[in-house]
Amino acid sequence: MSNIQQTLSIIKPDAVERNLIENIKSIFIKNNLTIKEDKKIHITKEEAAEFYKVHQSKPFYEDLCAYLSSGPIVVMILEGDNAVSNNRKLMGATDPKNAEANTIRKLYGLSIDKNSVHGSDSVENAKIEINFFFKN
Ligand code: CMP
Repeated sequence: MSNIQQTLSIIKPDAVERNLIENIKSIFIKNNLTIKEDKKIHITKEEAAEFYKVHQSKPFYEDLCAYLSSGPIVVMILEGDNAVSNNRKLMGATDPKNAEANTIRKLYGLSIDKNSVHGSDSVENAKIEINFFFKN
């Protein structure tokens, strides 16, 4: 039985800056994720703070918001079978040092902050995050 889901993916400033957009998109496409929508944007620190508000009590919150708003990002709606967990598997562990071989963060991540991509962690959060960037 298939379980088609949508999830939100962000290509972060470090990866956009190093021209990795097409490399990262091709990993999604090769692994049965369809890019339903995508756009390159540059968000404000306030928008980043709203997007990452689940992390507001964390010591890294300020730096995280400053970083996500530091340059252009690409936001995408990915769709496919078990898209939420498939995307998270393709991304690898949050800290590139701990990520498995051939995951996006192992291949391209520079540090726990500059870890190249973000992906929703649940179907529920995927809906919230997709709505944040792609309100109709
Ligand atoms: P992301 O999946 O975008 O979700 C929150 C981000 O916070 C995470 O990726 C990391 O880039 C960043 N971050 C920085 N420090 C930490 C930490 N100690 N634990 C988890 N995430 C961190």
